[in-house]
Amino acid sequence: MAESGATLSNLSTESRTFPPSEEFAAQANATADWYARADRDRAAFWAEQAERLSWAQRWDEVLEWNAPFAKWFVGGRLNVAYNCVDRHVESGHGEQVAFYWEGEPGDTRVITYAQLQREVCKTANALVELGVKTGDRVAIQLPMIPEAVVAMLACARLGAPHSVVFGGFSPSALRSRIEDAQAKLLITSDGQFRRGKPGPMKENTDQAVADTPTIEHVLVVKRTEAEVPWTEGRDIWWHDVVDRQPDTHQFEAFDSEHPLYVLYTSGTTGKPKGILHTTGGYLTQCAYTHHVVFDHKPGQSVYWCTADIGWVTGHSYIVYGPLANRATSLMYEGTPNTPHEGRHWELIQKYGVTIYYTAPTLIRTFMKWGAEIPAKYDLSSLKVLGSVGEPINPEAWMWYREHVGHNNCPVVDTWWQTETGAIMISPLPGVTAAKPGSATRPLPGISAEVVNDSGEPVGRGHGGYLVLNEPWPAMLRGIWGDEERYRETYWARFAEQGDYFAGDGAKIDEDGAIWVLGRVDDVMNVSGHRISTTEVESALVSHPTVAEAAVVGASDVTTGQGIVAFVIMRGDAIADEATGAESIKMLRDHVAAEIGPIAKPRQIMVVEELPKTRSGKIMRRLLRDIAENREIGDVTTLADSSVMDQIATGLREGK
Ligand code: WTA
Repeated sequence: MAESGATLSNLSTESRTFPPSEEFAAQANATADWYARADRDRAAFWAEQAERLSWAQRWDEVLEWNAPFAKWFVGGRLNVAYNCVDRHVESGHGEQVAFYWEGEPGDTRVITYAQLQREVCKTANALVELGVKTGDRVAIQLPMIPEAVVAMLACARLGAPHSVVFGGFSPSALRSRIEDAQAKLLITSDGQFRRGKPGPMKENTDQAVADTPTIEHVLVVKRTEAEVPWTEGRDIWWHDVVDRQPDTHQFEAFDSEHPLYVLYTSGTTGKPKGILHTTGGYLTQCAYTHHVVFDHKPGQSVYWCTADIGWVTGHSYIVYGPLANRATSLMYEGTPNTPHEGRHWELIQKYGVTIYYTAPTLIRTFMKWGAEIPAKYDLSSLKVLGSVGEPINPEAWMWYREHVGHNNCPVVDTWWQTETGAIMISPLPGVTAAKPGSATRPLPGISAEVVNDSGEPVGRGHGGYLVLNEPWPAMLRGIWGDEERYRETYWARFAEQGDYFAGDGAKIDEDGAIWVLGRVDDVMNVSGHRISTTEVESALVSHPTVAEAAVVGASDVTTGQGIVAFVIMRGDAIADEATGAESIKMLRDHVAAEIGPIAKPRQIMVVEELPKTRSGKIMRRLLRDIAENREIGDVTTLADSSVMDQIATGLREGK
């Protein structure tokens, strides 16, 4: 645990606690006895949660656990789109707003459940016309527009797993995801609004599909009205094919374990992993957690999750959880400072948002912009504030509570992962006493531990690795097409105990509260986005001027971690006078083009050697010391212990 030592000692001084108010507790969806009830009979507890859904056929068995492979609600059948849309119309809530949508340029749309049902049915019919069948994969790269939600639900309705790719990913990142999932259809748009300007989308997706033979059609939503390149026969306008479809569609109920989607996330190697989620267990846990963690009240709450649809938070907490619970949500297309830095607060005021769910990196950005900005708006509608994506430092937590929540909204720090599918560790508002910086304890029905290197629980007051020691309904069912990697990545580290290794370090305090400290593997977390060091390293060495590269995540006050790269240039490139600022800019742009702008290194240092062990492994710990301006740690395991001196001297001299 040397890696997280510094953070551990910083947090050990944090002792503030915020018990729930009596008023909130009296109306809360969950009560304290849920923990004990779930512990007594986990299967019965989850069966009770599954009753939140409408099943076409009830399950025979709650869980079949053939470690590390789980089947939840075995034998049950249901349709996710029916659960998220149709049943609310059937129960008389067709006129309830499902989404208030705000476009970045200020255009708006209001979509009721009845309208959403018609749009999803039309789109499902269009997909069928385009040859999509149950089991086929559909890739989606879209901006934050309602069609993104409609497209996902149409896929779910047909049992065609979607693979949503974040709009900021490069053509080559999109291409590798399409190839891995062998997607048949790509849904995209003519462009996207970003920071007040229309930007390209179709040009990028065209590059990606130039050599992906599995893609038969590209379905294009018109958003910016930009002129776009067009391939006759392959490309089809969304409005041409969707608008003329019948607005009803007879759905089929699928097996509880039918694949719902694949979502790619960075692992410790250069190749992203396609995380597979299925139907019944996933939707059950999304609905349950959205209900209890956000204290969501259908028909009363106005809920806003600020994530992008391209990440798991967008899947579980913009689409599946909230819609299963008949939420009225706000969906916003753009950036938080367009056209001004008060945009989020203005939207909260305009729509009377009651639940706001965002990321620590954004909270720290708001802090930087100043508390006087939120102070100009009426935020009194807010009732619950949520945080996700990375550890939230106590200072940001306190600022959030005070300047956004006016000290009367519970703050829920929710720990989970693409792999867990839904929230795992979080306070329950109205039940749990919150602590700034701690996700507190596993939700009722969930079991987690902090263990040492040998997999034994560390006990209170100690740090170690975060593991999950009981299967949970929304857990990943595997890595698309790679069973061995699934076992290896998550289940090999603590195989003896049968625990799932989350890849995070954590501490458990004297009260039993869990403090998640961040990744202990080679995955960085930049503004809540997972990026692997290897991915960035291979992007760098793919440039002709780079001989070798090592990448580390260094602490960053705003983004949590920032990407710092150390590169060794090729001999001929060094001889070239153009090295220096210019070539560094070129390399940063190259990484953005290879992976996407989110992976652009904050800093690139040109060095002559990299610190390696005798077996040739790069010692990132030492590079991190340099990147964070710390005294350099123990160098005794280096093959050549003078390397660190050379690097430090070289950097001082600005070489
Ligand atoms: C980190 C996002 C501390 C963690 C839902 C995890 C957190 C990774 C928290 C998953 C939190 C997420 N406190 N760390 N509340 N939430 N993380 O897959 O390192 O994009 O392993 O899922 O983010 O990121 P992912």
